[in-house]
Amino acid sequence: MTGNRCDRNTGVNRRSFVASAGAATGLLIAAPSLVKGYQANEKLALGLIGCGGRGNWIAKLFQDTGKYQWVACADYYPDRANATGDQLKIDAARRYSGLSGYKQLLDGQLDAVVIETPPYFHPEQAAAAVAAGKHVFLAKPIAVDVPGCLSIAESGKLATENKLVFLVDFQTRANELYREAVRRVHAGDLGKLVLGEAHYPWSGGSRGPAPTSVEEQPGNWYHVLALSGDFVVEQAIHSLDVASWIANAEPVRAWGTGGRSLRAENTIWDHFAVNFEYPDGFIISFTAIQTIPGVKDEIRCRVFGADGVIDTDYFGDVWIRGQKPYEGGNTGSLYTTGAVTNIVEFHQFVATGQYANETAAASARSNLLAVMARKAGYSQGEITWQQLLACTERLEPNLKGLRA
Ligand SMILES: NC(=O)c1ccc[n+]([C@@H]2O[C@H](COP(=O)([O-])OP(=O)(O)OC[C@H]3O[C@@H](n4cnc5c(N)ncnc54)[C@H](O)[C@@H]3O)[C@@H](O)[C@H]2O)c1
Repeated sequence: MTGNRCDRNTGVNRRSFVASAGAATGLLIAAPSLVKGYQANEKLALGLIGCGGRGNWIAKLFQDTGKYQWVACADYYPDRANATGDQLKIDAARRYSGLSGYKQLLDGQLDAVVIETPPYFHPEQAAAAVAAGKHVFLAKPIAVDVPGCLSIAESGKLATENKLVFLVDFQTRANELYREAVRRVHAGDLGKLVLGEAHYPWSGGSRGPAPTSVEEQPGNWYHVLALSGDFVVEQAIHSLDVASWIANAEPVRAWGTGGRSLRAENTIWDHFAVNFEYPDGFIISFTAIQTIPGVKDEIRCRVFGADGVIDTDYFGDVWIRGQKPYEGGNTGSLYTTGAVTNIVEFHQFVATGQYANETAAASARSNLLAVMARKAGYSQGEITWQQLLACTERLEPNLKGLRA
């Protein structure tokens, strides 16, 4: 694996990533006439972009709330769009395929889109959806590279300006235990933050062999760096997002290492160890590994402050101990309950006109952290936040020969 750290300092202000996002996207702004008002009980007409594992799974959860109606779907492969269309009783004329099938979907009458495609496609598809005046429900990770993160931040801002809801589906951010614990940290209950640990040991399998043809890639994208962003972006983002949420700031620099030792079949890396340094000397120590079956999966973030400790595990407990303890509790089936809360709140935000879209900028920030970890790891060295933001190169997969 070759290093692709950008180490030129082009003078981009390290706090300017949201402000500079417009230049990275060239988005159209949705005409106000495209945006309509809703009643609290009104069903939203939905289009699904990406009819794979997560798309089909989450489509049913949307349906089960009784607040949505599926009216269109798109997948690169026509048979997948058709199978999902049959399942969701979508008119045959509104099932689209090919790389640009989502554009035809957006041309039709619908209120919102649910984007469940490989991460590389998220910025382009989300930007087009906002430009078409659709509310956006988006799977993590939001992007694979810096321009993609900036694009999503800009799409979130444009959505707000155009009275559209834009929600990124991190389950932890939808959980009341996490919300309350992090609220307390931000209120100062831990005192000065000193050291954080963000870990992602994962035994969930290598997701099979890498694709052997370009045609296979849209459906077997995990191993393709430019489509997934590597394991660290595609999966370990879950723990970095919590760390970034708690830290509530951008790091000054990161230095790291890692490699591919355990999963010989992988074309991406299977372990990373990266330290992030924040202003005031706060440090987050991050590790992620694709480990052997039987090891407990964790999406863990623990932060030590001068006056207390917060501990959070997606598959376990959330609590604070110290001068101002918070008992917290067990997160239960967060994989499902977090998605359901996001689905229910998405409808509420639309129905009640809440367009703050806080998850867009927050996800851009944490996704930048994951990209930073990859760059520090690949280069086995250091990268500053300023250098990261100057990395304007895009990861580009080989899509030659795929149907438009
Ligand atoms: N806990 C979570 O939040 C969680 C869990 C699983 C997956 N996800 C995310 O959901 C997304 C999808 O993952 P998945 O596991 O469903 O993958 P998948 O491969 O099962 O499904 C992706 C689908 O998108 C289709 N596709 C690819 N490129 C396309 C394009 N340009 N236009 C239209 N369709 C296209 C593929 O054919 C495939 O059917 C990823 O971003 C992943 O990280 C999130």
